[in-house]
Amino acid sequence: MSVTDEIKNRLDIVEIIGETVQLRRSGKSYTGFCPFHQNTRTPAFVVFPDSQTWRCFGACAEGGDLFSFVMKKEGWDFKEALRVLAQRAGVELEESMRGDRQPEADKRQVDLLALAADYFHQLLLYAPQAEGARRYLSGRDLEEETIAAFKIGFSLDSWDACRTHFNAQGYNDDDLLAAGLLSENPERGTRYDRFRNRLMIPIRDPQGRVVGFGARTLDPDGVPKYLNSPQTELFDKSRLLFGLDMARRHIQNARQAIIVEGYMDVMMGWQTGFRNIVAQMGTALTEQQLNVLKRYTRRFVIALDSDAAGMQATMRSLEVARETLDREVESRFDARGLVRHEGRLKADIRVLTLPEGTDPDLLLRREPTLWPQLVEKARPVVAYVIEMLTADADLDDAKAKADIVRQVMPLISDVADPVERDHYRQMLSRLLRVDERALQQVALASSVSEATRQRRRDRAGVEAETLTRSSPAPNSVALSGGRIALAIREADFLRQCLRHPPLLRLVDHELQEHHQEPVSVGDFGNPEDKVLWQQLHAYLRVHPVAAMDELWDSFDDVLRARAQSLVGEASEPSDEELEQLPEKLARLILDLRLERIQRLWAEAQQLCDEARAAGDAGSLELYLSQVQKLSRTFYQLSQGRRAMSAVSRRKAEEAGI
Ligand code: UTP
Ligand code: MN
Repeated sequence: MSVTDEIKNRLDIVEIIGETVQLRRSGKSYTGFCPFHQNTRTPAFVVFPDSQTWRCFGACAEGGDLFSFVMKKEGWDFKEALRVLAQRAGVELEESMRGDRQPEADKRQVDLLALAADYFHQLLLYAPQAEGARRYLSGRDLEEETIAAFKIGFSLDSWDACRTHFNAQGYNDDDLLAAGLLSENPERGTRYDRFRNRLMIPIRDPQGRVVGFGARTLDPDGVPKYLNSPQTELFDKSRLLFGLDMARRHIQNARQAIIVEGYMDVMMGWQTGFRNIVAQMGTALTEQQLNVLKRYTRRFVIALDSDAAGMQATMRSLEVARETLDREVESRFDARGLVRHEGRLKADIRVLTLPEGTDPDLLLRREPTLWPQLVEKARPVVAYVIEMLTADADLDDAKAKADIVRQVMPLISDVADPVERDHYRQMLSRLLRVDERALQQVALASSVSEATRQRRRDRAGVEAETLTRSSPAPNSVALSGGRIALAIREADFLRQCLRHPPLLRLVDHELQEHHQEPVSVGDFGNPEDKVLWQQLHAYLRVHPVAAMDELWDSFDDVLRARAQSLVGEASEPSDEELEQLPEKLARLILDLRLERIQRLWAEAQQLCDEARAAGDAGSLELYLSQVQKLSRTFYQLSQGRRAMSAVSRRKAEEAGI
């Protein structure tokens, strides 16, 4: 038994997840609100004690085991997770596994990024080529002091200036790539400066260390407008907030944090003396970010530049997205998510609306005195939604009123505090001139009928697809049998790739030929295998010709043990076998995916049955939509799988002639 298996055997996933997610027993599983995303209407997060796995049936559609959960939740790497969970399980780790090699690599990157910020800053201040950039900044009214405080910089309009500069300082291309300063063309394997002719805005972590850059184009037609550092362990946009290192103190003093959308908004705020401002960086606000901010205050004000129409459009598009089953809608304003955060974090979240056509940057430049007034007038999330929706509603139109009730009631029922809940119900009743009891009924009835309609649609869809399928229906696979088969195939794949690393690329190529996704970490279930694949993959990106010794040296003891046990079991394939391997392994990957989908399908079906038995319309709707989605994926995969078999059959026949 591997170390991770031993740890998993000794710990209870329900207990550990239950420490951070409120779980409720339902049938054989436990459900709760997903800690990784906010756009949920019903508890979409499920923990399965039998298989010791978890899964989000909502927007993230992700799942895994105990290791993947803590890694995702705490932002740990495999090693950290291993150390903490081993300790908790009372499993002794070898000396070498406890050692920390990671922080050193981190330190090298942090040093490099700090040097890079200086380098870009010096260029902005003194390079003749930065003349345009300097003019641009003064055109935006950014003063010297602000430019210095944020250490804004400039990247030369060149494909290798930054690279050459840092190569000369002893940083090789791998360092630069890891720090996100170089980009790579995966086809040709060429590398080049990632940031060219851009305004460089260093992004720091709360301790003030530079962890990445936001780079604004200086070309009016430049795309994208802001190019950010690639997502890495160090630069994680879902955890970072721009400006927090400088705003911390001011947030504490002001007893509130203001969250805006852009870099410029934060910098202009600082310049005009409003320094308790931080920015999200092009992603929806996450609970991780609020958790970080919570150390300084529990009162948050979110600056929204959307007007009433804009917000209604957002709400409508959320409805539409739900209908089309595409739950991955990134909306900056997710009222329900915010209300839930509020309850969970015991926070006070308010919404500040900006006059039409402005953003904080513009407003602060033109009319800074308006800012504190707007902040003062910020409304609690639910009040904001109610006021926006009722502002220009036609109170003579019964259907329009019912529609508003349908949108707002679920939001109100998410409010944690009973007194607040009551307050908003009264508010809605007053503004719509509808009896409070009627509000409740309308909301309830509409949610049930919606779920029924959805269910009919889903049934029709699923059955149609099941009938046209020649392969066995997903639920015909026994759960435990499926899991063992998965583990064997997974091991098979990795064994071959560890022996012949170039296979990895060939398999990806094969998959793409058949319009299938390349191999990814999600194709593996075993935590060690996930990390093994990741390291192998990362290694191959940097070293197109694999030096096996070096690769093995990069594994720590846990991984080396796993790799050894894999490779030791196989005999060397013949050249002929080797030639057929890419196709064979691509088919194997698709089989892995098909099996995994079948398993998920069966789980989702089971959840449907339980929700139906419990009369829980909201959950039923959610799980049914998942069943349908899985059916589609299954269908698409099996098409690809069949096409692959057909090709290899044809090849075999041709070879036979
Ligand atoms: P905006 O497009 O509203 O930018 O994007 P802005 O801050 O007003 O910028 P200026 O005033 O035109 O310079 C808001 C934020 O969204 C992210 C950035 O964090 C930006 O500050 N963003 C935007 C990106 O990450 N990439 C993009 O291409 C655009
Ligand atoms: Mn702007």
